[in-house]
Amino acid sequence: MKALVLSGGSGTRLRPFTHSMPKQLIPIANKPILQHVLENISALGVTEVGIVVGVWEQQITESLGDGSALGLRITYLPQDAPRGLAHAVVIARDFLGDDDFVMYLGDNVLPDGVAEIAEEFGRARPAAQVVVHKVSDPRSFGVVELGPAGEVLRLVEKPAEPRSDLALIGVYFFTAAIHEAVNAIEPSARGELEITDAIQWLVTHGGDVRAGEYDGYWKDAGCVEDVLDCNHKLLDGLRGSLAGEVDEESVLTGEVVVEAGARVVGSWIEGPVVIAAGTVVESAHLGPYTAIGRDCLIRHTHLDESIVFDGATVSSVGRLRGSMIGRSAIVVATGDDSRAEARI
Ligand code: TTP
Repeated sequence: MKALVLSGGSGTRLRPFTHSMPKQLIPIANKPILQHVLENISALGVTEVGIVVGVWEQQITESLGDGSALGLRITYLPQDAPRGLAHAVVIARDFLGDDDFVMYLGDNVLPDGVAEIAEEFGRARPAAQVVVHKVSDPRSFGVVELGPAGEVLRLVEKPAEPRSDLALIGVYFFTAAIHEAVNAIEPSARGELEITDAIQWLVTHGGDVRAGEYDGYWKDAGCVEDVLDCNHKLLDGLRGSLAGEVDEESVLTGEVVVEAGARVVGSWIEGPVVIAAGTVVESAHLGPYTAIGRDCLIRHTHLDESIVFDGATVSSVGRLRGSMIGRSAIVVATGDDSRAEARI
């Protein structure tokens, strides 16, 4: 089986971050979302991965290279514009050949993985097997209606009156039967080739389409609140390790990672917190649920439930909670900062 990972798109809901980087490289628990995705794919035993890329191709290739660090062989597949999920399958035709493949959206976070569903697909080899997740309000999702034997009867995009609570999530298993379907459909009203239309085409034309239910934590990390929620969830599994320098005045509680080359001085770190290499934390209170990227400077600040991207400076701003601080951003108090320091 091969994998097709979708990392094009516009990421409009994550602006302004996505003005300077692709959303798939946004760090969650100090690892790009895309790396979490590729680790899940590698756990399925898949090594041949095609990554669909758009305008951020260069940053993505610089981050992942040929994939060998993750035990993968990556082929980059440029998409000229975000023309839809099914369009990504069209442009990947040569890479995929007639092999089975898992299609994985590069912004989906499923820490429990999809190994069981992959096995089910491998055993039964239906034309397609979608992954579904029970949601409380299905009206903003693609909704799947199942028949008595668990077969997919119908897929409805954002139904006003949903007939099931099973939402389609961003992982799909396909045999080569999908290629005829993606070539047969027309662009939707929003001008995209929709994967739901292609799967519905398979159902209508007698294809065996099944659903596998994923009942672990799932998020499509499409907006700031969801990225922060994923960060909280993934930091919950953090195991502490201290490879960097921590001075005697600092107090560390809970699970804290201080990477080699990071320095913590006169601070209270309340885990789970991860502090990446090259970062200096001075007279600060960090955590819980906070991830600080590489080469940052954090001083005289209380920061919790937050993500600080590489190279940022946060100084004397009192307390920040539930924040994402962009790459190389500088956040400093401009007025009298003695009050901010007093609150730490
Ligand atoms: P979406 O979240 O549907 O779209 P988007 O990334 O453009 O974000 P926004 O709605 O905020 O503008 O995309 C899901 C995933 O699929 C994401 O990783 C981007 C990727 N994608 C492609 O690679 N090609 C495409 O044509 C589309 C539509 C999405």
